[in-house]
Amino acid sequence: MVIIGSKTYRNNILFMSEPDKSFEISHLLIQWYHSHQRDLPWRKTTDPYPIWISEIILQQTRVAQGMDYFLRFMERFPNVQALAGAAEDEVLKYWQGLGYYSRARNLHAAAKTIVIAFGGVFPTEYTQVLSLKGVGEYTAAAIVSFSANQPYPVVDGNVYRVLSRLFAIDTPMDTGKGKKEFTRLAGLLMDPAQAGTHNQAIMEFGALQCVPRHLDCPSCPLQEKCLAYATRTVQDYPVKQNKTKTRNRYFHYFHILCQGYTWLNRRSGKDI
Ligand code: ADE
Repeated sequence: MVIIGSKTYRNNILFMSEPDKSFEISHLLIQWYHSHQRDLPWRKTTDPYPIWISEIILQQTRVAQGMDYFLRFMERFPNVQALAGAAEDEVLKYWQGLGYYSRARNLHAAAKTIVIAFGGVFPTEYTQVLSLKGVGEYTAAAIVSFSANQPYPVVDGNVYRVLSRLFAIDTPMDTGKGKKEFTRLAGLLMDPAQAGTHNQAIMEFGALQCVPRHLDCPSCPLQEKCLAYATRTVQDYPVKQNKTKTRNRYFHYFHILCQGYTWLNRRSGKDI
């Protein structure tokens, strides 16, 4: 049991078995967001199409680099019809440099599905959005909450970090149990009346304030409520079961130039 201010925390998450009715944490996050948010083009719309495109791009790269890709992609494929009607090669060209080309192929396939199965209207029902190729729970929650304020919590790496510190949660985030626990908690914290803004706020808070290293806890508006801060364990969170393993790999390749052209061969298999 840990006592912080007037609050008693018991076994971290277990004490929060129902929503915080006053949504105090959500409101503090939103207040912080209003004065710290970055000016990003996909936040200026409630159209699910650009929101979807931005989310898929941002799975691949950071905001600073993703911005150019997003703007170029939107200029060439401004709506779902334009994307569905394009040749796959051209879609891949606009993805060039981002890697994971299957994401671009899935985007293209999903655009065709929207045109054929949904009459060209981007679905706003969570389960329909989730059924689109390449759209997982995180992306579906982002799309329906940002575009239609539907109360589905987004749980990405930033959110795991914020919640694990705030509630000093030891459950590894990269396990089924962890995912369930964090998703439930994220839902309990969210003010459903401001679902979209709450989701943007908690993600932005993780990206700018509650960062992995070199933290600035003294300036944090949630400092008083943070169990990890109170117990001086901020750097211990989030807990991961499988640390990312890296290894060096060495490749041989031919760089074939002929009369000013470079010979290219598209890989069709998996791997890099
Ligand atoms: N990363 C993933 N989604 C994002 C969003 N909507 N804004 C900023 N960064 C993000």
